[in-house]
Amino acid sequence: MYFEWQGAHPVQLRCIDKYVETPDTMSIKLAPLESQLAALDSIQFDFKPGQFITVGVEIEQKMEYRAYSLSSIAGESHLQLTIKRVEGGKVSNYLLDTLQVGDSLLALPPSGEFNTIDHPPVRINDNKKALLLSAGCGITPVYAMAKQWLANGADVDVQFLHVAKSAQQTIYFDALESMAATEKQFTLSLLLKDASGTTHPQGRLDKEWLLQLVPDLMQRTVYLCGPSQFMQDTHDNLQALGFDMNNFFQESFTPVSSTTESERDDQVEDKAVSVAVEAFGKEVVAQQGAVLADTLEAAGLPLIVACRSGICGSCKCKVTSGSVRSTSLETLSAEEIEQGYVLACSSTIESDLAVQIG
Ligand code: FES
Repeated sequence: MYFEWQGAHPVQLRCIDKYVETPDTMSIKLAPLESQLAALDSIQFDFKPGQFITVGVEIEQKMEYRAYSLSSIAGESHLQLTIKRVEGGKVSNYLLDTLQVGDSLLALPPSGEFNTIDHPPVRINDNKKALLLSAGCGITPVYAMAKQWLANGADVDVQFLHVAKSAQQTIYFDALESMAATEKQFTLSLLLKDASGTTHPQGRLDKEWLLQLVPDLMQRTVYLCGPSQFMQDTHDNLQALGFDMNNFFQESFTPVSSTTESERDDQVEDKAVSVAVEAFGKEVVAQQGAVLADTLEAAGLPLIVACRSGICGSCKCKVTSGSVRSTSLETLSAEEIEQGYVLACSSTIESDLAVQIG
């Protein structure tokens, strides 16, 4: 039986395991609460490989939400996240340092366009070949993609190219080496900044390394995830090599650009507008061009703003009158857009607004 999410409402999950992956990353496993398990024999989680969930924890009396890619596969009785320590990263560091096995947290349903179900590998010359390309903690969703293909016995030739500082800093190092040793359809290429003590090459990923490590690059569908500069450089290198970018997919937790101060100055006069949220009895004054999510949060309204990048959908709200300018409509259906739903993190205010949240 599949775990039932509650639409856009967060549900409680409990941490059932937590362990070190590398000196600065840990994996945590999340399962339904025991009360839910008692009612049902076994629960499986369903999602598309590559997707993420948004988790919420209370830190200093305030709920904080962040999106994390799933590193487990569909059909398991738990979800797994792999979290890297981030300087000043409130939620990540809380999950690493404070969350204990047995503790619960809030979670929103799996989401995300970066997945191998909506974007399966393209068949070229009668073969389906994928290149899973990652750096650092960006390994998480592509690792899930590889594991799911292998678990399903999928007809996909998988090359896994990961860039890391060293073998010690490579998340899932042992699991990847064992997959490479036992699975014929899986090839591992690690490119390390410091390869000492390993047989893996040392270098920095550029066009030459791409061609050398992946000779049949042009026949592969590429799935890319990693730090934003790495993704930008890799995207540009693929383009420069003449790669067919229709066969290229990437994850991005990088904030989409909303109206910048200077753009705003060009576009609108500096004007105050009102934002009313009737159900909460609130009407606040905001600056035209302000980000809707910032305005709602500043008013103390219970809006869940997880990724701040227009990708997780947690900040969905409905504009019932007035207009906003949106830079992302991801996760919204055509019907929802028609009804006036927007992503508050990716919408700037253009006029007086009436908004519904929750
Ligand atoms: S916070 Fe994720 S879409 Fe707005």
